[in-house]
Amino acid sequence: MSDGYIVEADLRRVPALWPEVVIVGGGVAGLSAALAAADAGAQAAVLVKQSMTDSNTFHAQGGIAVAVAPGDSVGKHVEDTLAAGADLCREEAVRSIIADGPERLHDLLEWGAIFDRDGAGLAFGREGAHSFRRIVHAAGDQTGRELVRVLQARVEAHPRVSVLQNTFSVDLLHSGGAVWGVLAVDASGGLLAVYARATVLATGGVGAVYRESTNPEVASGDGIAMAARAGALLEDLEFVQFHPTTLYMAGVKRHLISEAVRGEGAYLLNTRRERFMGAYHSLNELAPRDIVSRAILSEMSRTNSPHVYLDLRHIQPQRVLSRFPGIAATCSNYGLDITKDLVPVRPAAHYFMGGIRTDMEGRTNVERLFACGECACTGLHGANRLASNSLLEGLVMGRRAGLAAVGLSDPGRFPLKSIGPDERPVDIELDVADMAASLRSLMWRQVGIIRSGDELASALRALHYWRRYVLRCRSAERGVFVLRNMLTVAVLMSAAAFQRGESRGAHYRTDFPNALDEWRIHQTFALKDVL
Ligand code: SIN
Repeated sequence: MSDGYIVEADLRRVPALWPEVVIVGGGVAGLSAALAAADAGAQAAVLVKQSMTDSNTFHAQGGIAVAVAPGDSVGKHVEDTLAAGADLCREEAVRSIIADGPERLHDLLEWGAIFDRDGAGLAFGREGAHSFRRIVHAAGDQTGRELVRVLQARVEAHPRVSVLQNTFSVDLLHSGGAVWGVLAVDASGGLLAVYARATVLATGGVGAVYRESTNPEVASGDGIAMAARAGALLEDLEFVQFHPTTLYMAGVKRHLISEAVRGEGAYLLNTRRERFMGAYHSLNELAPRDIVSRAILSEMSRTNSPHVYLDLRHIQPQRVLSRFPGIAATCSNYGLDITKDLVPVRPAAHYFMGGIRTDMEGRTNVERLFACGECACTGLHGANRLASNSLLEGLVMGRRAGLAAVGLSDPGRFPLKSIGPDERPVDIELDVADMAASLRSLMWRQVGIIRSGDELASALRALHYWRRYVLRCRSAERGVFVLRNMLTVAVLMSAAAFQRGESRGAHYRTDFPNALDEWRIHQTFALKDVL
């Protein structure tokens, strides 16, 4: 047995694959990494937790922020990104990722991506905190689907890429500060070892640890948790972006209502039908997301209501329906005509600015381990991500990580014959659904949009306690592995939020309501620092 595993396995009995590069995740970053590695000559395997349609990429509505509109420039896009990031972006990352945007957009167009047009040129949308209309979008509000369509087709047609869907990667095969690949639960429920010279994590974010979330269930922080167990350094874990507007109806999944809707002029009204954003920020409905989210909570509390409204009734109906066909269809399933009815909305967890610390090629501090996309932290987003910069980062950093992962030397045989948790397992009857619901509620109430030292300290006590017995539970059930990962990332995020004694960007503390100069720093954690 050895440290840092949640699966128990005798590796001599586990079936194995040996690609040169293994990529975990089937969103924009993972597929871009696979294509880059395979184009550079490597045999690449992509492991996807569920299907290609279960990713934050697939559900992305807004689009890709790229500085290609007439009059726009990389410099202006950089300025907007730095301003949104509340003095915490890594300027080198911002400049380098944004500068690559036009080339990556060019690739997508070459590969057959169909983006919305305005006459002969591309149509550009606007979202909060952008000084320019620069968001490239597809089928109105279905940019993510189009990206997945194009990238998936290319990956599937590539002779050097294999894709394994319904394959849940649970642990990195690691020893002595290096990684040899991953251990996964395959579609049949059996274990599968995938040994590789390089491992690229592109597992997405952590939205599933919150009760209110725009993310699909698969976004449970698995890559971040397994990297942490393998000794990876993590950064900016206190910064979670809450999206101001998700559809709120009792019993209905929290569908995202894109910020592009406000970009097209929609108003926010409280339940007394009063427009309120003017009282909170000069940019009104297009203020930064943290400000809009807190304003909505304040109006909900002032009016004693579980939601506010989005109002599109003054926008030309034809324009609404052609720009937002997906949102219109979703709302109409619940009897709402978005051209005539007010749409009930409230904030939800949306994007994780923190993650596995990487350099500008996706390298982590662990040998042979790379990370890209939402699970990684390059410093592009700082304390608050500029809308639609995440698909851009996935395209740019996925490609870079895929290229950097090619051509590593043969690491030799994995040195461990068996792996498993440190602690002796005990027979506990665990209600996985109940535990997950408790975790999500606690994160939403105490590590959510508005935080305080006391609430964070109490959340940490509960999370540590729960994590201890969930780790010890004797179970090889997929749901228990997911729960362990969720608890691990929740502990890390809460510890980081507790430590940061100020408010900055998406991290707001009632006991420290201002940004402080001495906190213009990134917090870096290893798992051992918080246990
Ligand atoms: C949205 O469409 O509002 C989401 C876009 C993003 O989060 O980048």
